Amino acid sequence: MSDVILELKDLHTHFFTDGGEVPAVDGVSFKLHKGEVVGIVGESGCGKSVTSLSIMQLVPNPPGKIVRGEINFKDDNLVNFREKRMKQIRGNEIAMIFQEPMTSLNPVYTIGNQLVEAIRMHRKLSKNEARAKAIEMLQLVGIPRSDEVIDEYPHQLSGGMRQRVMIAMAMSCDPEVLIADEPTTALDVTIQAQILDLMRKLNQEQDTAILLITHDLGVVAEMCDRVVVMYSGQVVEEGTVREILKDPKHPYTKGLIRSLPKIHEKEQKLYSIPGTVAKPTMDATGCRFAPRCEFAFDRCFKENPELYQLANERSSRCFLYDNEERGVEEHVQTDSRG
Ligand SMILES: Nc1ncnc2c1ncn2[C@@H]1O[C@H](COP(=O)(O)OP(=O)(O)O)[C@@H](O)[C@H]1O
Ligand code: SF4
Ligand SMILES: [Mg+2]
Repeated sequence: MSDVILELKDLHTHFFTDGGEVPAVDGVSFKLHKGEVVGIVGESGCGKSVTSLSIMQLVPNPPGKIVRGEINFKDDNLVNFREKRMKQIRGNEIAMIFQEPMTSLNPVYTIGNQLVEAIRMHRKLSKNEARAKAIEMLQLVGIPRSDEVIDEYPHQLSGGMRQRVMIAMAMSCDPEVLIADEPTTALDVTIQAQILDLMRKLNQEQDTAILLITHDLGVVAEMCDRVVVMYSGQVVEEGTVREILKDPKHPYTKGLIRSLPKIHEKEQKLYSIPGTVAKPTMDATGCRFAPRCEFAFDRCFKENPELYQLANERSSRCFLYDNEERGVEEHVQTDSRG
């Protein structure tokens, strides 16, 4: 895959709060190729949502601000765009769905109003034609009695139904990129599977590239081509979904995978990474993960590791992959088996 459609370069998004400056996104770089599904994973508070809001230029300002870096979408750097230009991008070329669709559906308009408006922005259709198209879209995303639902308000629908409406909106815009931030977290398992199916359809049939933000590695395994692992505002590992799940390099990724419940094991001894995600600070020294890392050594508390490139689009932000520390890495490789 070569055509890059979206590329973040050294993105820094900070919050200026009474408690000080918070580098919520601290030098994030990654690429999304045309038609690709990339997962962004990490525990709560790692900076996943602020990254996605930054792409859409929807970081609340104040207190938030993109202080440095580029967000290249096709030939443009979105960071330079004014609101008027961003409005044309949002929902058209880049669509976004959130965990709670209530925040992105307008409560005072019916589903039909919103869908018809979205459709007519993209196709030259009469109101009646657009309405017929809207009903068709609702059927397509599995909404029963769609000819009635079209005249209902968002609050009359269940969370799963609202999420389907959001996907119908996204589909009707035929976006080149869909950003989905924990789209199924609030839904029960069956509905979750159906929503993921719809997203896969969107990806396969309309070739929409998807940035799928989730803390659920199971979802990643099912949906993604590549994975970006975030910790405390930074990318700590990147690789194909197979590489990340079968051969994680960063101790944080290893911990995330160890925490996955294993379906085939009778006895469920659930592992969880000790401690919690530290809130990013401006004066942090050392590896952000060091306080929780079972492999931490002296250097980890003094210097912040760079993102070591292991291969093309395969990297790990850990001193164990610094050539100078090779001996230590072998130790970790044998240590973490079993
Ligand atoms: N409006 C805000 N004001 C101050 N800090 C914020 C705000 N929104 C997010 N943050 C901080 O940014 C960091 C990343 O948050 P977020 O991107 O929401 O994490 P995730 O989506 O991975 O759970 C957190 O430390 C969070 O406290
Ligand atoms: S740099 Fe050190 S503390 Fe950080 S993940 Fe690697 S071993 Fe652990
Ligand atoms: Mg989030």
